Amino acid sequence: MIAFRGVRKSFGSHEVLTGLDLEVGAGEKVSIIGPSGSGKTTILRLLMTLEQPDAGRIEVDGETLWDAGGFDTGRMKLVRRRIGMVFQHFNLFPHMTVLRNVTEAPVHVLGQGREEADAHARELLGMVGLEQHVDKKPGQLSGGQQQRVAIARALAMRPRVMLFDEVTSALDPELVGEVLGVIRELAHSQSMTMLLVTHEMRFAEDISDRVLMFDSGAVVEAGPPSVIFHEPREERTKRFLSAVLDRR
Ligand SMILES: Nc1ncnc2c1ncn2[C@@H]1O[C@H](COP(=O)(O)OP(=O)(O)OP(=O)(O)O)[C@@H](O)[C@H]1O
Ligand SMILES: [Mg+2]
Repeated sequence: MIAFRGVRKSFGSHEVLTGLDLEVGAGEKVSIIGPSGSGKTTILRLLMTLEQPDAGRIEVDGETLWDAGGFDTGRMKLVRRRIGMVFQHFNLFPHMTVLRNVTEAPVHVLGQGREEADAHARELLGMVGLEQHVDKKPGQLSGGQQQRVAIARALAMRPRVMLFDEVTSALDPELVGEVLGVIRELAHSQSMTMLLVTHEMRFAEDISDRVLMFDSGAVVEAGPPSVIFHEPREERTKRFLSAVLDRR
C-alpha cells in the first residue's frame, strides 16, 4: 500500500531521512517508535505530500507518488483524499460546530450532499462516543473529545490509510485512554491501513502487526510487537525501550 524506497530528506544541512526503506501492506497496522527528532513526523508529512523528498521514491497503492521528477499531481490529489491524518494538535475549526467540522471536507472536497454528509458524520461521531456533542463548538469540549472529533473528521473522507502522529501526547493523562480506546477499536474492526507514531508502548504492542524502531533517519529494527518489545536484537532498541519504560 505504501512504499518508501531510498528516501532522503534534509532540512538545510541536516539530513533527517538518510535513505529510508519502508513498506506497509494493505490493511497492515504499523507503529513507528523512536526518539524525538529522529524524523518520524517527517515520514508522515512526506506521505501526505506536505513536504518533498530530495531523493528516492514514494509509492502508494503500487504507483509512484514522488520520484526525482517530482510529485505526480494526479496521485497527489488522490492521496490527499484517500489518506487521513490525525495530528498531535487537533486543528479543528473553532467557529464551526462539531458536526460541521466533520462534514466540511466531504461536502466541499468530495461534493457530497449535506444530508448524506450529516448522516455519515453523526454515525462516526456516535462511534467515537460524541453523539451528545454534535452541536457544540470545539472550545466547549475537552482535549480528548476534540481529538475524537479530529478522528471522526479524518474518517469522514472514507480513507484507505490513516496516519496518527502522537495523537495523545498533548492530552492530560486521564484523557489519553479514551482516545487510544477509539483507535484500538478502529484497528481491531477496520481493514484500513494504519501507520501510527506513538510513545504509548502498551498500546502499540496491542494494536500493531509490526513495529518499527526508528532512529537518526533510518529503521533500526522492525518486527512483530512480541519481538520488538520483549526480545529486541538491537542495542539501540533496548536502550530506547528501557529509557521510555523507566520514565513511567
Ligand atoms: N520544516 C522543517 N524545517 C526545518 N527543520 C525541520 C522541519 N521539520 C522537521 N525538521 C527537523 O527535522 C528533524 C526531524 O523532525 P521530525 O519532526 O520528523 O522528528 P520526530 O521524530 O517526529 O520528533 P518528535 O518525536 O519530537 O515529534 C528535527 O531535527 C526537526 O527539527
Ligand atoms: Mg514528531
